[in-house]
Amino acid sequence: MAEKTESKMDKIVSLCKRRGFVFQGSEIYGGLRGTWDFGPLGVLLNNNIKREWWKMFVLDREDMYGLDAAILMNEKVWEASGHTGAGFADPIVECEKCNHRFRADHLENKEVCPDCGGKLGEQKDFNLMFATKVGAEGNVQSYLRPETAQGIFVNFKNVVDSMSPKLPFGIAQTGKAFRNEIAPREFLFRVREFEQMEIEYFVKEGEWEVEFEKLLLDIRAWHARLGLSADNIREYEVPANDLAHYSKRTIDFEYNYPGKGYDELAGFAYRTDHDLKSHQVASGVSMEYIEPDGSRFIPHVLEPSFGVGRALLAVLSEAYTEDEMNGEVRTYLKLPTYLAPYRAAVSPLLKNKPELVAKAREVFAMLKKEFGNVAFDDNSNVGKRYRRQDEIGTPHCVTIDFETLGEENPDLKDTVTVRDRDTGEQTRVKIEDLVNYMMQG
Ligand code: GAP
Repeated sequence: MAEKTESKMDKIVSLCKRRGFVFQGSEIYGGLRGTWDFGPLGVLLNNNIKREWWKMFVLDREDMYGLDAAILMNEKVWEASGHTGAGFADPIVECEKCNHRFRADHLENKEVCPDCGGKLGEQKDFNLMFATKVGAEGNVQSYLRPETAQGIFVNFKNVVDSMSPKLPFGIAQTGKAFRNEIAPREFLFRVREFEQMEIEYFVKEGEWEVEFEKLLLDIRAWHARLGLSADNIREYEVPANDLAHYSKRTIDFEYNYPGKGYDELAGFAYRTDHDLKSHQVASGVSMEYIEPDGSRFIPHVLEPSFGVGRALLAVLSEAYTEDEMNGEVRTYLKLPTYLAPYRAAVSPLLKNKPELVAKAREVFAMLKKEFGNVAFDDNSNVGKRYRRQDEIGTPHCVTIDFETLGEENPDLKDTVTVRDRDTGEQTRVKIEDLVNYMMQG
């Protein structure tokens, strides 16, 4: 059983490379561990995930504000947030013989090197932030942000002063985060450079439980929107004795990754007023919110935090399907229509017939104008095109044939064949009805 699911992940990794979703970072130089590059289709899928997230959590709501803060921040931010200290360090041990380093909390035997059998040295703390110097003199210490969240906290006052939001309200941000993970592993799961989608939702202290329950439903709705089945998601309620000292409740959303089993996909934490209070103390700037009646207090915060890479991995794992069609095994990505890299592929039946190509180009231009992400595919024969488009999850393949030109049956003039990815069924649709037809599925 374990072998079967493991091989599914191998197939996904290989499909990602072969079809232009994800490449190893700096591949031609032997790679750089913990980095991955998104290829043409990976960018489309990633952007679709982020667009849907932004739409659901920001555009469709009245109580959310967007932000795009700088990656480089004043080092005092990270001192106030606790990231420069032991709170953001992993325990590390180094082999005295081969010098390989391991996370001590991942080892059963902390004395012996799992790689060469050598003696492991003393356990030390290893801070996960990438340090860098800013300016020509290189004397200003900074860090590549390890989470987008702090950019939100330090702008809390700016957003309140410029937008006058009423509590409860949230500030949302997507963007890169960097962590010098000791053991990057499992494809996109644990990497050193990744993207987050985070919300800090500010509430009155007495209302945190009610708002927590509401956001919980929103997070569940988000995972359903990604097409993830509820059976593959587990909500892990972090026990009180494992909670960070400032958190009163945390839920980890775990996905059942193939070959790996349940592991974190996203997190949801009630962080009290810890973060704003810490920044108020460290910066000397008031983080108080002033109610219309003049009462002042530091709001409490609920934090839903998502990783784009882990969402993409879960989406691909859920969508990857093998079945049998026309007596052959075929692979397809059963992606929700709004996530598919290409909404449709348009092809002339034969690419050496100028009249078919011209009509196909016309239909392609029409669909591209409407949907944007539409492919023109005149490579190889129809059967191979279908298989290729199935493998990248294109919901509809539109073929322009001689019937479209009205050469065989005048009644079929200006109709095209639309093939459905999941069923392989082909339907004759009038070109004028094509946009509507595609919008329905
Ligand atoms: N602001 C809270 C925060 O950053 P986190 O649990 O450390 O919380 C949130 O990270 C999410 O970011 C995780 O649930 C995961 O999806 C993603 N993430 C964190 N570290 C990651 C890594 N090294 N590689 C890929 N994704 C990561």
